[in-house]
Amino acid sequence: TKQKLWGGRFTGKTDPLMHAFNQSLKYDQRMYAADIKGSIAYAKSLTRVGILTPEESSKITDGLRTVLKEWQDGKFQIQTDDEDIHTANERRLSELIGPLGGKLHTGRSRNDQVATDMRLWLLEEATEIETGLKGLIRVMVERADKEKDILLPGYTHLQRGQPIRWSHLLLSHAFSFSSDLQRLQQLIPRVSVSPLGCGALAGNPFVVDREFLAKELGFQSVAENSLWGVGDRDFIVEFLMWSSLAMTHISRMAEDLVVYSTADTGSSIMPQKKNPDSLELLRGKSGRVFGNMDQMAGFLMTLKGLPSTYNKDLQEDKEPLFDAVDTISASFQIAEGVIATLEVHAEKMHQALTMDVLATDLADYLVRKGIPFRETHHISGRAVALAESRKCQLNDLSLKDFKSLNSNFSDDIHDVFDFEASVERRESIGGTSRKMVDRQIAVLRGILE
Ligand code: ARG
Repeated sequence: TKQKLWGGRFTGKTDPLMHAFNQSLKYDQRMYAADIKGSIAYAKSLTRVGILTPEESSKITDGLRTVLKEWQDGKFQIQTDDEDIHTANERRLSELIGPLGGKLHTGRSRNDQVATDMRLWLLEEATEIETGLKGLIRVMVERADKEKDILLPGYTHLQRGQPIRWSHLLLSHAFSFSSDLQRLQQLIPRVSVSPLGCGALAGNPFVVDREFLAKELGFQSVAENSLWGVGDRDFIVEFLMWSSLAMTHISRMAEDLVVYSTADTGSSIMPQKKNPDSLELLRGKSGRVFGNMDQMAGFLMTLKGLPSTYNKDLQEDKEPLFDAVDTISASFQIAEGVIATLEVHAEKMHQALTMDVLATDLADYLVRKGIPFRETHHISGRAVALAESRKCQLNDLSLKDFKSLNSNFSDDIHDVFDFEASVERRESIGGTSRKMVDRQIAVLRGILE
């Protein structure tokens, strides 16, 4: 059979192995709507320069709408010879309207066509992803607002450090997502550039109005250089980098929630026993998106060696992008669902607060009495050690015990042992006080508007 394959190639027919190697339809068919949208706009532009009569134009447009409907209804019949979404749509158009279908591609090339499709497709997905991301942030903000008074231990190095508000923790992740939102909004203008009319590489000899085309398709600007227009894929690299960073944030949030769901205090404080799977999946899916970064590193390697304009190597841009888009969209939705339905056991969270998380407040107490922090820190540490040796809580030590550590302790010491007061004391911007949490909520709501 090997001989036959080679034989096939020499007779000028594409051998089946090469055909399969070359064929992108199985994955690029998802761009069918973008492809048809681009073609309808292109037919209009050809009509404006007199290449198509108005009658021809409406026949082509009607035909394209039929093809679109076939895809939408799942009735499009793929033929073995269809190579990609562009050739498949054109083949079907010509079946429907005859040789006139062959006029559509006048002055156009699959090179400007595929770049247009990719950008259009990504713009649409990016808008949906933006909505999903906003939805996630909104749920986090609403939840934080409602559960502002729930306290829990904040961790450093996986050890309980200081008391914080649950809302403060939630909002910390919301701020990462708000940066993702900003970054997404900032990269969109670089996706929203129209390559249509760049032709194979040198531009359009029928002088179609490229600004009209861009406007028809909703692009913000026009690729100013045809070689660049057909050859640029930076917007895909950029989107993959964006999605990897956003996935990192989903993963870190999931990790926090997994940690807070463990039984480290003998009782799980955020019982996700029913579905820690969702959190672990979110954490796990990030690996998949980073995997696309690896593919991206490979794609960058391809790009750096590519001569100008379109090269078939660029077909390799699709699968990593599609996979990243799918994973990140689903992850935002799942994360939103997790945050919306998560059960918070305020009581257990509160029980997890042990007096040792107030050790910093104890040191601060002495600071207020004029002792240098480096010393107070040390004294506080000794108080914690003393309580530990007595197997009691910090606030079970007597005033005499405290005085034995430092003479500046007096009977107002017991004001220190109040978690709420500790949280409220942190009232400069970014702190855990109620007012500062409200401020965060207001900032995030402002971003969502
Ligand atoms: N399927 C190709 C891609 O995805 C379309 C462009 C083909 N153009 C060409 N000159 N071979 O990149």
